[in-house]
Amino acid sequence: MATFIRFIPHLIGLLPLALLIGDALGNRLTANPIQYLTQRTGWFALALLLATLACTPLNRWLGWKIVMRWRKPLGLYSFGYAGLHLAIFAMLDYGFDVTLIAQAILEKRYIIAGFLAFLLLVPLAITSTTGWQRRLKHWWRRLHRLVYVAAALAVAHYLWLSKDPRPALVAGGLLAILLLARFPARQSWQRMVKWRYERTERQTGTRR
Ligand code: HEM
Repeated sequence: MATFIRFIPHLIGLLPLALLIGDALGNRLTANPIQYLTQRTGWFALALLLATLACTPLNRWLGWKIVMRWRKPLGLYSFGYAGLHLAIFAMLDYGFDVTLIAQAILEKRYIIAGFLAFLLLVPLAITSTTGWQRRLKHWWRRLHRLVYVAAALAVAHYLWLSKDPRPALVAGGLLAILLLARFPARQSWQRMVKWRYERTERQTGTRR
């Protein structure tokens, strides 16, 4: 049972790849296979990024300690699909034409957001090992908080490229909930009380 639980993040991470291979073998890549693959890999990258961010709240609120071990593999799978997404865009869609790619990055705001999200994910993936965690000490946590910025950029990317904004807004809503759920209620309450207390002191000039 314990071995199976350890494999769950790998099953979750490899399932999208299996689905894509199934689609390719079953001739289900639609009339525009490049667009289909770009959209699918982008969607999987974002879904796995949100799944990575769900681990801390699940541990904090439901006491599911095991999911803390899933953060790293899920994050790396998300990065893998984002890399595949970018590779399909650069190689299959733009034929690796650097000028055309640079032009697309500069001209389209959704590509700028996607590109920045990917750039942010690179150092996070590189420093995801325990060796880097030890070397960077408290900076590691600070660096890895950038994952929220990367996720917000990925949501903006999704929102700006879609005709129907609803799926991207759902992803953005989920991201906001996951961000808020990181903080234990008591801590957030204490912070708010402290902030209101300090504000009153400032307003009444009673601060020592
Ligand atoms: C340089 C980086 C990136 C480029 C050039 C890029 C480009 C694209 C393109 C061309 C599309 C398809 C647009 C269409 O419908 O024709 C797309 C869709 C998408 N991308 Fe990206 N992207 C990048 C990074 C990312 C990253 C890092 C994520 C998530 C972590 C992401 C998530 C998505 C999502 C969710 C979709 C929409 C999928 C759907 O329609 O179901 N992208 N991207």
